[in-house]
Amino acid sequence: MTTFVLFGGTGDLAKRKIIPALYSAFVNGRLATDFQFIGAAREALSDEVFRARVTNAIETYAKLANGTPEQLAAFLALTSYSKIDARAPADFDALKSRIGTIGNESNASSLFYLAVGPDIFIPVVEQLSKHGLVEGNARVVVEKPLGRDAKSAKEINQALRSYLRENQIYRIDHYLGKEMVQNLLALRFANSFLEPLWNRKWIQDVQISIAEQVGVETRGDFYDKTGALRDMVQNHLLQLVSIVAMEPPVNANPDAIRDEKVKVLRALHKFTPDEVSKKTVRGQYRAGAVDGKPVISYQNEAGVPPSSRAETFVAIRAEIDNWRWGGVPFYLRTGKRMASRCAEITINFKPIPYSIFGKGQGPLRSNRLVITLQPEESVQLFMKAKEPGEGIRLSDVALNLDFAEASSSRRVESYERLLLDALHGDLTLFVRDDELGAAWEWIDPIMHAWENDSEGLKSYIAGSWGPAAASYLLAQHGTAWGEEYVES
Ligand code: BG6
Repeated sequence: MTTFVLFGGTGDLAKRKIIPALYSAFVNGRLATDFQFIGAAREALSDEVFRARVTNAIETYAKLANGTPEQLAAFLALTSYSKIDARAPADFDALKSRIGTIGNESNASSLFYLAVGPDIFIPVVEQLSKHGLVEGNARVVVEKPLGRDAKSAKEINQALRSYLRENQIYRIDHYLGKEMVQNLLALRFANSFLEPLWNRKWIQDVQISIAEQVGVETRGDFYDKTGALRDMVQNHLLQLVSIVAMEPPVNANPDAIRDEKVKVLRALHKFTPDEVSKKTVRGQYRAGAVDGKPVISYQNEAGVPPSSRAETFVAIRAEIDNWRWGGVPFYLRTGKRMASRCAEITINFKPIPYSIFGKGQGPLRSNRLVITLQPEESVQLFMKAKEPGEGIRLSDVALNLDFAEASSSRRVESYERLLLDALHGDLTLFVRDDELGAAWEWIDPIMHAWENDSEGLKSYIAGSWGPAAASYLLAQHGTAWGEEYVES
């Protein structure tokens, strides 16, 4: 029997992401035949009421799964609910009897997904351990935020490790489950022509941008205590950096890959307070318009104090102090309420050493490789070619790998992919404790410098590309963000 227990089973993440992902896996025949799903949360709910909520989550957020009414009924038949107060041992007795045969069956396995605040992680894991529920094949998935800084992350990790082995802990970063992120590994390590170019000799700079159009939605209270640096940079952006910049691993095993990723995170150049003010920009959105529709300012969002100083935008000029990347800027950017929704990695190659083509014969922007994670997945290599016709006029053309067109295979959403990996015991796309620690070590000095600088928060109009200072961050080095680039 495989048991999936979802703590925080009535929460927003469960409703929007986890339950729909589980259902999609079920509809596509990816779950074991003897599978059960138990929702767990503090509310006292009957199985029936929980099933009604699951149905609602599926109908609202799992449309792409295309399940039939019979499949939905079959999924609900595997679903039940257990009321859990993390500090009430008796509730775990009840959960244990609901899980049933675990421990008695040699092939029984359970996955406990902790979609709850980090203050609840440890009490839950402690109770699971005391009740003998995390022995053998049991695994625990923990959601971010894992800590607020290096110290608190270390405490959480140590506490988790006192009940679990490292290979039982699945620290989820849903960006790692995105198709294109995994494709990056294939692009880099299954093609011969990229590797000789993938270094400081040939690459001018790397830009990684995750722009969102949404604001803070219903999460104002949480977000205001978190900010974009902790919410997006510490995890998603740094994970992308580590995959772009890592050395070839010795094989594709989870630890071989994570060994190389952590080296990149450790090599990130740590900023002094002076560097923080020169190399980082933070901003907060004011009222504006997104896609032509007026939107309110961050400070007017529900749950956000009107005097909030939380950042909703971050841009950073990072550097990696090692032989491959010394001197190559990694420009990182993320923001809410930006002009469009787009997550993109751009590798800008160095310019040609000398042009035999005169001015007026076309743009000479150097080659670039653009890897788009969303909204659509694609890899484009921009090259120069001659425009058809008389004389030589150069234009920028893209060798375009459009994955929606190139393959008819079913697209697996990141949460589904990661859930299945966790159920199968594959740790490759989960974050190891040393990676998490190294990421926080790099973030800490930035956070501290910002805390001591009351002037640095810039504002930007909702629906724009962020504060002007973010453009200046690149302009002063003679470059520009992708959307700002002007051919000359
Ligand atoms: C989450 C952040 O981790 O990622 C959210 O907490 C953000 O604030 C989300 O909106 C973005 O994910 P995606 O997959 O929509 O780009």
